[in-house]
Amino acid sequence: MRWRLLSVGVALGLDLLCTGAIGAEESSAPQGRKFAHAHCAGCHAIALGGASPMRAAPTFRMLAERFPVDDLADVLIEGVERRHPAMPDFRLEPDDAADLTAYLKTLKP
Ligand code: HEC
Repeated sequence: MRWRLLSVGVALGLDLLCTGAIGAEESSAPQGRKFAHAHCAGCHAIALGGASPMRAAPTFRMLAERFPVDDLADVLIEGVERRHPAMPDFRLEPDDAADLTAYLKTLKP
């Protein structure tokens, strides 16, 4: 059972990587919000209102406006180390990136 789940997960991840279908039905905005809360909210404002705890970090609302959100998924997977000096080893799993971009889409005006 465990292996089955694992291979489904791997297949899904590969699927996302190969087709580039990030942000498709598989992803979930609520999951993305949770992920952002756990991993990004220390520096970025992740909700619609409020300022970022770390002044240099753009709010997620700004990110959603500034970037084509689907490109952002690729950027997050490949790692934004060059653009993201505060977090040198910043690199997301495809699933997490898909959830996160699904969430970012909900912030778009
Ligand atoms: C330790 C603080 C910190 C954490 C945690 C953090 N960030 Fe950032 N992030 C920053 C700062 C500071 C910048 C602005 C960097 C700059 O403009 O040079 C930034 C910029 C960005 C950018 C814009 C990069 C660009 O090219 O302009 C993205 C996208 C981003 N963060 C995503 C995330 C995501 C997604 C998470 C959570 C998984 C996250 N960050 C967690 C501090 C952080």
